[in-house]
Amino acid sequence: MKKYSKLLILPALLWVVGIGLTFFAGGCDRSPADNRSADIGTDESAHMEINTPGTSGGASETGSPSLSEQPPKAPAQTGDTLQPDKEPTPAPTEPPEVTKTPEPTEAPTPTPIAVNTDTSTITFLVNREYPLPEGFVPEELTTPDVRFPFSDTSIDKAKMTPEAGEALALMFDAAYNEAKLTLYGVSAYRSYSRQYTIYATNLATRGIAHTNRYSAAPGRSEHQTGLAIDISCASEGYGLETTFADTPEGIWVAENAHRFGFILRYPKDKEHITGYNYEPWHIRYVGCDLAGYLYETGLTLDEYYGVPSALTAEYLETTPLIDTTAESYLAIYRQYH
Ligand code: DAL
Ligand code: ZN
Repeated sequence: MKKYSKLLILPALLWVVGIGLTFFAGGCDRSPADNRSADIGTDESAHMEINTPGTSGGASETGSPSLSEQPPKAPAQTGDTLQPDKEPTPAPTEPPEVTKTPEPTEAPTPTPIAVNTDTSTITFLVNREYPLPEGFVPEELTTPDVRFPFSDTSIDKAKMTPEAGEALALMFDAAYNEAKLTLYGVSAYRSYSRQYTIYATNLATRGIAHTNRYSAAPGRSEHQTGLAIDISCASEGYGLETTFADTPEGIWVAENAHRFGFILRYPKDKEHITGYNYEPWHIRYVGCDLAGYLYETGLTLDEYYGVPSALTAEYLETTPLIDTTAESYLAIYRQYH
């Protein structure tokens, strides 16, 4: 018996170690906050210095999470052969059961998911049809510990919600530690009034059609949530151009952002669904579970909630959705006319 118990101990130990390793390597269902507190120094290091080689954590924080830990997408295996109580019915004697009325639509129709507009969550939808509640301001905004191409990081556009900011810092650190790529935050939080100015300026200078393809009307921008940020890199001059998608940094982001809870919100070839042109630089934090699921399925957030938000002629006709008689708009308009 002793001989056998020794034989059993080794596999059991290996199993325990295996489970442990899987747990520590798993990234997408971990809390970004938990990992960050363990891995990223928060001493006096300035924002511009966090990516210094060798200072931030190493492999443990960037261990590739297993995508198999994403939300289940397929039914679990049935394990038919192991069912002990299976009746040994002599199958051939009975005529094959007549199939019920064909249900052609059942399988392909995904279960509709109710649109989440609860701004206390991280997965809520903001698009043309689903604006933010009037006067919405995120409860808390902080400056993520990442690089920006400007020095005053106390300004609004350097801010995000704490959870999104922590996930962003993890992601930027991983880009450096795993691939020696340096990412920069360019534009994160925008207040309603800031978005108003941007949108109105675009209307005045670029026209309605162009503006609506690139710029959200105030109250309808993800930037107002504190969960979105535009990012870039040095070789792009920190600009927001579609060429970012072809840089090593842009490619890395497209392939890895979901591991840290971010989605590329306005993907290529989905303009007819999101209603906005391709923006490889705009990422939105939705948390690891949903980000992993959307990455795997290729769905946009609008599709996930079953409410595509295409830019329609009707929308163009009814824009601008802002009050064009407002003083601020007129002041901006006059600058250009
Ligand atoms: N560029 C995105 C759509 C925004 O303005 O929020
Ligand atoms: Zn953006």
